[in-house]
Amino acid sequence: MPSVRFISHRGEESVVDVPEGWSLMEGAVKNGVSGILADCGGACTCATCHVYVGEDWLAALPPREDMETDMLEFAIDVRESSRLSCQIKMTEELDGLFVILPESQI
Ligand code: FES
Repeated sequence: MPSVRFISHRGEESVVDVPEGWSLMEGAVKNGVSGILADCGGACTCATCHVYVGEDWLAALPPREDMETDMLEFAIDVRESSRLSCQIKMTEELDGLFVILPESQI
């Protein structure tokens, strides 16, 4: 099962196993990772599951779909590495993925 490291903006780490086929957001919420609010439950309508993907992992992810890009316009401090974690589907190839949580989502 792929393992993901969530790093808060203060540098605190949470490592969780996320089953293949789950979204990264589901893995965070079901493991109590703070900073992933996921107010819309994964419908891509809230942007409260915003994460910054570790640079080395950006190329491993499928590109953003238009809906994700549009919703990111409502997130705070969006960067090139910004993704909505509900739109990242976990696969074995993402084992070791790490993401950083925005300061705005404490
Ligand atoms: Fe709402 Fe991801 S959970 S946009």
